[in-house]
Amino acid sequence: MESQGDASSQVDDRKRKVFVKSYGCQMNVYDATRMTDVLAKEGYEETAAMESADLIVLNTCHIREHASEKVFSELGKIRVLKQERAARGVDTKIAVAGCVAQAEGGEILRRQPAVDFVVGPQNYHRLPDLLRRTGNGAGVVDTEFPIEDKFDHLADPSPEKIRTRGLSAFVTVQEGCDKFCTFCVVPYTRGAEVSRPVHQILQEVERLAASGVCEVTLLGQNVNAYHGEGPSGGAWSLARLAERIAQVPGILRIRYTTSHPNDMSDDLLAAHRDIPQFMPFLHLPVQSGSDRILALMNRKHSVADYLRQIERIRTARPDMALSSDFIVGFPGETEKDFEDTLRLIEEVKFASAYFFKYSARPGTPASTMDEHAPEEVKAERLARLKALVDGQRDAFNQAMLGQSVDVLFEKPGRRPGQIGGKTPWLHAVHVDGPQDLIGQIARVRIIEVGVNSLYGHLGDSLTEASH
Ligand code: SAH
Ligand code: SF4
Ligand code: F3S
Repeated sequence: MESQGDASSQVDDRKRKVFVKSYGCQMNVYDATRMTDVLAKEGYEETAAMESADLIVLNTCHIREHASEKVFSELGKIRVLKQERAARGVDTKIAVAGCVAQAEGGEILRRQPAVDFVVGPQNYHRLPDLLRRTGNGAGVVDTEFPIEDKFDHLADPSPEKIRTRGLSAFVTVQEGCDKFCTFCVVPYTRGAEVSRPVHQILQEVERLAASGVCEVTLLGQNVNAYHGEGPSGGAWSLARLAERIAQVPGILRIRYTTSHPNDMSDDLLAAHRDIPQFMPFLHLPVQSGSDRILALMNRKHSVADYLRQIERIRTARPDMALSSDFIVGFPGETEKDFEDTLRLIEEVKFASAYFFKYSARPGTPASTMDEHAPEEVKAERLARLKALVDGQRDAFNQAMLGQSVDVLFEKPGRRPGQIGGKTPWLHAVHVDGPQDLIGQIARVRIIEVGVNSLYGHLGDSLTEASH
């Protein structure tokens, strides 16, 4: 318990704490780890309790209106927290990072003056400098796209830190986007498409694997367009990168997300066929099943192109499960366009999907298009889409019943004596089994299919071995 002494001198003695809250995509989750790694070097340790943090970072997403409004309401609450702590003589810094920071910059300081600094996704290596520059009451904004490579200047996590984050890790290999879909802010908030060099990624994966990570998910806004510089010059494709990562001792599974339908190259399909660590689950957003809407979205592919890709993928890897993103109520979307989307879903059969009601993002071409659909229409279409995909997901899960599958065990299960893991297709699985299987792959026979997870028995030989 704290004593009643001079609060400010106590603060100076203790280790400073940082709390990061991430919104949006997996790249933000990864960025949060990189931010806390940089801040660890400055003496900040992570806390899960916002009230005890000396530095609060909101790592924001700008993909939907709703998301950035949530940030401002959260900032209002944090401001009260900052005032309460100030009354006790404790200083709190508030930072806004991520895509809202990049898009709105100084506007954030105007709307919420309690914010100390605003930092865009390309500038996380400058956090120590930004921290030093705050404190005189004036907010600081750093949303330039720097010339230096932030990855060269970010800190590496310690082995202990890696272990606390679990056996499965994200690694950003490509960032930004040059595709300019008319609805999307990402090309503006994350900048132009840039691939990290192979040696940098390998170093990171080797470090993770040495501390026990056995599954990596390679991240990029257009990850299958990866073309990073290879060790002896020349660009490497995602397939070649994955092939090399598959040789890192300890890496049992490799995944990647998000892919664009136009960038499923032949060598990537061959890699799916040939690299055992490459998991048969692909997130391949199509957004709409109407050629007219796809053209308005500037997706640069037709429905037939997408279906052709699915056929190629399933030829290379017949057990490939697919997921997608869909936008409903894009400007001008008619009932017929929407029905075309339903038809595409019926044809492909997805294992899962994410649905979004179109929301106009300032500065994007679609935001000035006519015929924005009423909210009720968007809600109704979303519900129909969801019902269709939920049915496909349930069928996909039910098909696991009685099957024997490889499960990578990641953590203790919900009940004592249980362990939990994932199938190659990302189903959560629980079994009764020994904790020392955590970090390993074992064969499991699925005997029960629940809504959110599967339950199974370990293969015979393992069950015997554990008794
Ligand atoms: N690079 C990826 C992910 C982009 S953002 C891709 O190409 O798929 C993730 C998803 O958010 C998109 O796939 C899209 O479905 C959705 N999204 C993006 N902008 C949106 C907007 N303005 N309104 C509604 N959904 C949007
Ligand atoms: Fe956005 Fe399109 Fe780029 Fe995906 S491909 S990030 S949806 S602009
Ligand atoms: Fe959101 Fe930025 Fe990711 S807008 S989805 S956090 S790239």
